[in-house]
Amino acid sequence: MPPRKKAKPKTAKKTASKAVVDRVPAKKKTAAPVLAKEKKPRSAKKNKRGVLISFEGSEGSGKTSQISRLSTRLEDAGCDVVCTREPGGTDIGEEIRHLLKHASASTKISPEAELLLFAASRAQLVREVIVPSLDKGKIILCDRFLDSTTVYQGVGRQISAEPVHIINTFAVGDIIPDITIVLDIPAETGFDRIRHRTTDLPDRMENETIDFYRKVREGYLLLAKALPERFIVVDGSRSRKWIEDKLWDELKQRIG
Ligand SMILES: Nc1ncnc2c1ncn2[C@@H]1O[C@H](COP(=O)(O)OP(=O)(O)OP(=O)(O)O)[C@@H](O)[C@H]1O
Ligand SMILES: [Mg+2]
Repeated sequence: MPPRKKAKPKTAKKTASKAVVDRVPAKKKTAAPVLAKEKKPRSAKKNKRGVLISFEGSEGSGKTSQISRLSTRLEDAGCDVVCTREPGGTDIGEEIRHLLKHASASTKISPEAELLLFAASRAQLVREVIVPSLDKGKIILCDRFLDSTTVYQGVGRQISAEPVHIINTFAVGDIIPDITIVLDIPAETGFDRIRHRTTDLPDRMENETIDFYRKVREGYLLLAKALPERFIVVDGSRSRKWIEDKLWDELKQRIG
């Protein structure tokens, strides 16, 4: 895989926001109205030399597992790789992560406050980690990014599209992923995979109903359909090795 100079992607084109508007029927029920109205922030391609790859998908879809495998493979190929996650990835972000995912106070959180906390973590990550890493020509593998907000807060929690879009844009500035990988699995598979996790802390997001995760899955697929230049959807129910190889092949095609 890639010598750095070839890493400049041809994805996430400036037509992306147009694609959302054009290809998602504006009147469709369920998730579509949220996604149809969202306009993606402008990509600041000309100022960056690295590649930002985000991983998306519901809990248990295999994001962390595949980021680990891909980063090893990229490093073996001589690439400079940064792995990070959302919420989190910075000191401030990790504190927000703990608050959102584990603190008992978060059980009372309003959807609006939750949205802002995710955005705050992201804003810090962009400025403290992502932009400097892109400037140094690194490949950044990000475990969730702005699409998680679009899908979870927008689709799952039914916050209207405008505030989600405005807050997303404010948080990320000009930074959108060059490539977004969606690991697609049935909600039940994800639940089965994470059921046996040992933790003494409650994880609020994992306590959502199976129906919520069906909507999340639907939201990701809708988003991927609207933005095919940026998204790669991979069957996350296949074996770890199969997915790793599939991702490697896809990324070779996209970033050389
Ligand atoms: N392709 C796969 N087949 C079977 N099990 C898998 C596969 N990929 C990951 N797993 C297992 O499923 C569990 C969840 O995987 P992982 O933590 O990578 O998912 P995740 O998407 O990062 O989840 P979360 O969003 O909750 O962080 C782990 O126990 C992992 O070993
Ligand atoms: Mg994970």
